[in-house]
Amino acid sequence: MTDVAKRGGAPVPAGWTYAPAPESTDIVRLQERYGLYVGGEWLETKEHFTTVAPRDESPLAEVAQASAKDVKNAVAVARDASAGWAALPGSERAKYLFRIARILAERSREFAVLESLNGGKPIKESRDVDLPLAAAHFFYYAGWADKLEYAFPNRTPKPLGVAGQIIPWNFPLLMLAWKIAPALAAGNTVVLKPAETTPLTALLFCDVVRQAELPPGVVNIVTGDGRTGAALVDADVDKIAFTGSTEVGKAIQRRLAGTGKKLTLELGGKAANIVFDDCALDQAVEGIVNGIYFNQGHVCCAGSRLFVQESIYEPVVDKLKKRMATLRVGDPLDKNTDVGAINSRMQLEKIEELVAAGKDEGAEIYQPPCVLPERGYWFAPTVFTNVAQSYRIAQEEIFGPVLSVLTFRTPEEAVEKANNTPYGLSAGVWTEKGSRILWMAERLRAGVVWANTFNRFDPTSPFGGYKESGFGREGGLHGMEPYVELT
Ligand code: NAI
Ligand code: MG
Repeated sequence: MTDVAKRGGAPVPAGWTYAPAPESTDIVRLQERYGLYVGGEWLETKEHFTTVAPRDESPLAEVAQASAKDVKNAVAVARDASAGWAALPGSERAKYLFRIARILAERSREFAVLESLNGGKPIKESRDVDLPLAAAHFFYYAGWADKLEYAFPNRTPKPLGVAGQIIPWNFPLLMLAWKIAPALAAGNTVVLKPAETTPLTALLFCDVVRQAELPPGVVNIVTGDGRTGAALVDADVDKIAFTGSTEVGKAIQRRLAGTGKKLTLELGGKAANIVFDDCALDQAVEGIVNGIYFNQGHVCCAGSRLFVQESIYEPVVDKLKKRMATLRVGDPLDKNTDVGAINSRMQLEKIEELVAAGKDEGAEIYQPPCVLPERGYWFAPTVFTNVAQSYRIAQEEIFGPVLSVLTFRTPEEAVEKANNTPYGLSAGVWTEKGSRILWMAERLRAGVVWANTFNRFDPTSPFGGYKESGFGREGGLHGMEPYVELT
């Protein structure tokens, strides 16, 4: 952070002055305090905690810390609702999902503002990515609800019962949609726990559930920290779907071993973004920037390891640094902002620790001159060059706006280096040759391989990992499978 000056007020990237374009927050009406949404009602709890806005640490609301008993109760309520929900014709369940999708689209501005307020991501992203995709997931899975027998030919799909779902803070509403939409389409009821730093859009979603007149108990939201998540894992659920850290994912897997509960895990990543010397250079630089600075790098599939073919190393790094200098870092609610606030103090400290390790180990750091606000959690877009494979910044998931640049000479070497990681969630390839794209995609051990693009999502496309990035797929027809029993 030493390279970055601090000053009060709205941040202005050096060299460019943009008039502030703040999105109004008037559209969001928050309650002072939230309970748990269980059986279509708000239940009180003993303990609460405060959720804040990462852009200035201002408190937004008090949120319930659900105890193991609260969680058990929510699961029992979901269990009671499950027979009725499963018995509905698929076309009826589809109507509710279509309704939810439509309401999300109608209320998207309200949700986008709240997502940026509570999570710190730029409004441009919550408005143009998170919200449209969340609605699209409900639309997409609504379409499967009455076609399950065609989805799994010659098999009989049956719902599992109650799904326990635990989600992270980087795409709060979108991860909720990824989890809830297929579960409901297949005829399950759910108890979902949002992350402790970003519970507010999940709580606002309860109002969408009410508006859609979903039968009580089909969707239940319990808030709280890791203890609440652990209680949900231990509760009487038929399946756990988890997205978050590899560490917690492993703990959940150990906990569920031998219980017969189904499990899907979507964990961390350390994606290789591989740039060949025959690529369209300017597009590749855009893809590199999108790959790592999108959502402040709080992205499990972020292109955090850049592999550049040696012959074009200098122009790529040069263009990248120039492009980084134009990134506008600051208020997430400003429509011009490209890079918003870091989600939490804890995450900021983790990023700072890993960046310090990168400097100590001998990598060369570059941060464009930019002015960060005084209050809140901020980290300037960062790139490291002179990185060795063994450095922590090349091995560990940083989950922040920090890129490590490495080089390669041949496609074989690129594959070997890219696969030299315990993770395997995503990868990117930039080249003009279609044959090379296919050659690389065959060899990269990653669930998703993007070619001449990065971080592109669609509800019809399955997403998930290899190795320590987890197992099971979300999205597409593959995403239905973890929510049905096939006989
Ligand atoms: P985390 O894995 O602790 O949190 C994710 C979710 O799991 C939250 O809802 C949390 O309350 C819940 N949880 C925590 N402990 C649990 C337990 N024992 N049993 C059940 N649920 C539990 O992740 P955290 O601590 O927020 O972030 C740490 C690191 O994990 C990040 O720096 C990042 O590297 C990685 N991460 C990866 C994500 C991804 O999408 N792949 C998402 C979030 C974090
Ligand atoms: Mg944790």
